[in-house]
This record gives sequence, structure tokens and C-alpha cells, in this order.
Amino acid sequence: MQLGGIPRLRLGEFPTPLQELKNLGRELGGPRIFVKRDDQTGLGLGGNKLRKLEYALAEAAAQGATAVITVGGPQSNHLRLTTAACNKLGLKTVLVIRGKLPEKPSGNLLIDHIWGPSEIHYVGADGFPSKGELDRVADEKADEIAERLRSEGEVPYFIPNGCRAIHGAMGYAGCVLELVGQFRDRQLSPTAVFTAVGTSSTYTGLVLGAHLFTQDQLSIVGISVANASDIVSERVVRQLNQAAEVFKLKTKVSREAIVVLDQYVGDGYGIPTTAMKEAVLMTARAEGVLLDPVYTGKAMAGLIDRVRAGDYTNDDVVVLLHTGGTPALFADSQIDAFIDEIQ
Ligand SMILES: Cc1ncc(COP(=O)(O)O)c(C=O)c1O
Repeated sequence: MQLGGIPRLRLGEFPTPLQELKNLGRELGGPRIFVKRDDQTGLGLGGNKLRKLEYALAEAAAQGATAVITVGGPQSNHLRLTTAACNKLGLKTVLVIRGKLPEKPSGNLLIDHIWGPSEIHYVGADGFPSKGELDRVADEKADEIAERLRSEGEVPYFIPNGCRAIHGAMGYAGCVLELVGQFRDRQLSPTAVFTAVGTSSTYTGLVLGAHLFTQDQLSIVGISVANASDIVSERVVRQLNQAAEVFKLKTKVSREAIVVLDQYVGDGYGIPTTAMKEAVLMTARAEGVLLDPVYTGKAMAGLIDRVRAGDYTNDDVVVLLHTGGTPALFADSQIDAFIDEIQ
């Protein structure tokens, strides 16, 4: 869909599949469980970034961009998909990666090198006291690169880690419309969508979409993978206000619509939890669907826990948004989480 006439490039394959997880539903008892396969967006091994990039790169094209600069961590799904999309569009890509080049790049980082971006810069993690400081240095590096590219006659376009919030909101409001249509074809209406929350623009878009296209009947449950829920919720309010301005909305999303749970983070971002491992293994073994250890594994852990807690009845329909990220399963840093399965 074209939200309010905002330019969008076609990069992925939509609608993504909607599948019922019947075995998992039977195992858990209670509501019907579905998965919306945004891990199958049809480019670069898929993931939620493609819906955002369709708007970000349309803006880049409108500005006549010839090169895209972006930043992220070594296992960033964002870097993998941004580079894939730029390759498809014939744009140069410059990656600024927070961290060091390991001896043997694995997971997303290996794929980043396979895409062959024009430049990769590592901003070493040693000596920086905090992630915030590292982020600042990465952003400064991106500014410096933009200036150099301009002097070389290029037109650079900067995409922040995870894309600008407004592009995420556009992409995922559109996803709700798609999802509601798919359920309508099955003569069903979903009760709740669970999604992992990082920079939160996917979540913001879903909440906006539920407001616009279901009159807040669809509940969107965010499972934070990093920050405390009050911090995330405040950010979502800011992102919703920004989107309301851009879309010139007449009605306001109520604060009660924002439900972000932080009890599934565990010890921190990217650190495996027992519940995440259980969710990944259950979904793989019951359904042949692979989740990832950083985002969707924790989101599914939240969904399973809320179903077990009796939050939903047999009449409910609960959806996991599979936002992608499975290449992280093959990252050296995550292998230990599943090493026990090798007997
Ligand atoms: C696989 C995956 N799932 C979920 C998210 C979270 O999306 P957002 O940053 O929009 O909250 C990300 C991005 O960081 C991701 O890579």
C-alpha cells in the first residue's frame, strides 16, 4: 500500500506468508497461534528492515542519492538488509560497524562482506566506556565519510541504525493492513500481535496500523529485547506523535494501546535466556520454523509465557510477527546458546 501518497520503492515480496502454528497451539492449549513471516520478505534473507527500507530508499532516490551510509553492530540485520537493498538498486554502500573485525566473521557479518559494500569501517570497541559513546563515534565517522563522499562528487544519504522511526512506522502500519486482509480471507480476526522491540519503530508502526485499520481492536504486545518498558513506551509515544504529524491524523492513539513487556530481556541485549532457548527449540521442533536468538526467540518466549499465564482464551487468535534475524543463529557469539543440543 501507499500510505498517504508517501513514495515507496518496491524491494520485497508482499504480502508475506501468514501461517498457523497448529502443533504449537495444540501443545500450549488455548488460543490459535499464527506467525506472520516477515523473515520471508524476499531479499537478502529477509526481515523487518525491508518494509522500512522501502520508504527510506524512496527518500534517498528522491534526493538523487548515489551512496548510502549506515551504522550498526557486527551482527546487525539492518546492515545486512540495507546492503542487499542497495546492491539491488545499484547504490554504493558504506558500512560503519561498531566493533572490531574478528578473525573469522560469522553470521550477519560474514554476509555483509559477501555483499561487497564499497567501504566497511570498523569503529573499534576498545577504549570506549559505553555503548552510547561508541554510537557517538560511529555517527561522527559516518558524518566524516559523508563529507568526503560529497567532495568526490557523490550524493550520500545517511540511514541511522534500524532506519528512521518514521519509515518504520510507515512500513509497519502497512503491515497491519496486509495482516488484517489475510485474516479476513480466512474469516478470522486477530486478537493480538506479539513483536520484538529494539529501536521500536516496528512496534510503533503496528500500533499505528491497529489504530488506523482496526480502530484499536487489535492489541499489539511489544517484547523488549534491550530496554526497560517505561523507556521504550516513552519513545513509542514520541514516535507516534511524529507519525501523527506526518500523516496529519485527526485522532490520537491512546497511551493504553502501548503494551511493552520487559521481563523477557534477561541479562541484556543479545544475551541468551532459558525461555528464549525453549521458544526457539519448541518452534523449530513443532513447526519447522526457525526463530533467532536475539529478537524473535525472546518475542516468542513472551508469547508462550502469556498464553501459559491464561491471558488468551480458545476464541482468541494470537500472532507472532517473525521479524527475521535468523542469520544470528550462525554467529559465533550465539553458538554456545545451542551447543547443548549437540550430543
Ligand atoms: C530481527 C529483528 N527483529 C526485531 C527488530 C526490532 O525492530 P525495531 O528496531 O523496529 O524495534 C530488529 C531490529 O533491530 C531485528 O533485526
